[in-house]
Amino acid sequence: MDHFLYRDGALFAEDVPVADIAAAVGTPFYVYSTATLKRHFTLFDEALSWGDHLVCFAMKSLSNQAVLKVLADLGAGMDVVSVGEYMRAKAAGVPGDRIVFSGVGKTADEMRVALEGGIRQFNVESEPEMAMLDSVAQSLGKVAPITVRVNPDVDAKTHAKIATGKSENKFGIPISRAREVYAMAAKMQGLKVIGIDVHIGSQLTELAPFEAAYKKVAELTEQLRADGHEISRLDLGGGLGIPYTRSNEAPPLPTEYGAMVQRTVGHLGCEIEIEPGRLISGNAGILVSKVIYVKSGEDREFLIIDGAMNDLIRPAMYEAWHDIIPVVEPAPGEEPAKYDIVGPICESGDTFAKAREMPAVGPDDLIAFRSAGAYGAVMASEYNSRPLIPEVLVDGDQFAVIRKRPTYEEMIARDTLPPWLK
Ligand code: LLP
Repeated sequence: MDHFLYRDGALFAEDVPVADIAAAVGTPFYVYSTATLKRHFTLFDEALSWGDHLVCFAMKSLSNQAVLKVLADLGAGMDVVSVGEYMRAKAAGVPGDRIVFSGVGKTADEMRVALEGGIRQFNVESEPEMAMLDSVAQSLGKVAPITVRVNPDVDAKTHAKIATGKSENKFGIPISRAREVYAMAAKMQGLKVIGIDVHIGSQLTELAPFEAAYKKVAELTEQLRADGHEISRLDLGGGLGIPYTRSNEAPPLPTEYGAMVQRTVGHLGCEIEIEPGRLISGNAGILVSKVIYVKSGEDREFLIIDGAMNDLIRPAMYEAWHDIIPVVEPAPGEEPAKYDIVGPICESGDTFAKAREMPAVGPDDLIAFRSAGAYGAVMASEYNSRPLIPEVLVDGDQFAVIRKRPTYEEMIARDTLPPWLK
């Protein structure tokens, strides 16, 4: 459920007409709903209320500080994967003891910043990373709290580019070697083992792969405890999928997920952390764009819009489906039109949808891509020298620009000429 609904014949973001935002900021732009963000965070928080837990928002999915602040004010932690994300989370007011640091390639500099600024834990992904963290922590006279990310060799049954829990993926340590690696960690004076981490992939639409992974984590917890390690925290990753189209089978709800977590690992008495991104931010955002031309091809009609693959890369990168709807509500019973919906970028991959049935629209009409809050703005680029598009946050009947559109001059001024070309 989200807060982008038709009302009085027009699309609203909560209580704000989307067309009013377009008039104020120009197109294309992203708009996020505070109510949806809060609702989705709260669903997870309540689903785990049977025990000690922290919901750490995977801010890679949507990292605007205003969004982070909305969630942090509800008590959210953050899952970060770079020092840039760490600093953003801090800037948004998230305390270090609510930030977990994930990622396969943390550098010594990144470790230093997090250790000095405060960190809840590092999710360590390899032996060389462990050795590096040990030496950085010791050089600062600190002890780094860690979990080891284990790779449970489970098929997440999702798009290959976003599956992470199979042995062929670069993530984590094979679960079969975990005991050996924990034994090494226990000997390192700069580290303190506190738990286990697992994340098997993104946009999972079934509970079974999670359940299989978490059962393996439960077994491992018992083995590691028997080996003398203190395992008091389980980080179960993110990955619960969202409905991208209303005709899709509905993915499990956070309540069902929470009950499954309780069933599989609840008896261990560990504090539970989860790292959901998409389920919190995905349906909390839409991308609004304007039709430039309707072009008749030989056997199809192209809807050429002012948004492009640089603004929302998911369709080009993962053949992802986003529902695309007009901002003016179509009359009931209207015959749908069929379009290839494309952006202005000079490559054929700049295609959002092929032969998409949708209500007929024309030049200057506004359209909205639904479910664009996660992995939308954060994956944007300036390809074709198209400045990053603005982000807007709505709360009830108010809206504010939370990242402005740079001017062309600002974009160009980031380049500098070397002295010999001046
Ligand atoms: N934790 C870790 C360690 C992760 O790698 C990820 C996502 C998450 C949590 C959050 O997963 P979520 O709850 O959002 O599914 N760009 C792709 C998705 C990449 C996901 C990467 N890791 C897309 O647009 O579908």
